[in-house]
Amino acid sequence: MKIFLDTANLDELRKGADWGIVDGVTTNPSLIAKEGIAIDEQIKRICDIVDGDISAEVVSTDHAGMVEEAYKLAKIHKNIVVKVPLTRDGIKTTAKLSKEGIRFNVTLCFSAGQALLAAKAGAYIVSPFVGRLDDIALEGMNLIREIAVIYKNYNFPTQILAASLRSPLHVAQAAVAGAHIGTLPFKVLDMLFNHPLTDRGLEQFLNDYAKVFQEQASSRR
Ligand code: E4P
Repeated sequence: MKIFLDTANLDELRKGADWGIVDGVTTNPSLIAKEGIAIDEQIKRICDIVDGDISAEVVSTDHAGMVEEAYKLAKIHKNIVVKVPLTRDGIKTTAKLSKEGIRFNVTLCFSAGQALLAAKAGAYIVSPFVGRLDDIALEGMNLIREIAVIYKNYNFPTQILAASLRSPLHVAQAAVAGAHIGTLPFKVLDMLFNHPLTDRGLEQFLNDYAKVFQEQASSRR
């Protein structure tokens, strides 16, 4: 599973990129607004940090506005994936401009039927939101499983991007369920490293080593 960072914060992106395991980035209007910098400028900076697919979302809700924004966003960098909401206008825009070679991430997907529409429209990526379904007491991970089966049944090339992942457990479950990509807030990526047995094991290895080799070194003095 590819790992994307779900942030528009440059410090977080630099830290994540430095670990050598970040394959791409997703942003949304809320994340861009949090940084307080115009989307085209911020997306350019993100493209300079991470060499992979970078999702940039439109804010228009009508087809004509989405088309105009999609052209502008796609021109920013070759790695841009234009993000549109899973609405009638979003699907229409995806179907039309995918044929021209613009790559789309269809976002705010909450049902397998919606994911079918995204694939039919030729989306490059579909983004089902796991955590937001969990928030309303539905099993978000079931959605990833269902979409994986549907896309496999019909050989749809659309990639499933598990979004709204809130914990390391979510990340592992999304990978088991067959998501092609998981997008993670920086905090969740950082938490993925942690295991108490790793810490305890490392401490023990270093103590055992130090006991023998430091003693030898001090007896030679
Ligand atoms: C990514 O594409 C989504 O915008 C993001 O994962 C949403 O996450 P949230 O539900 O935690 O805001």
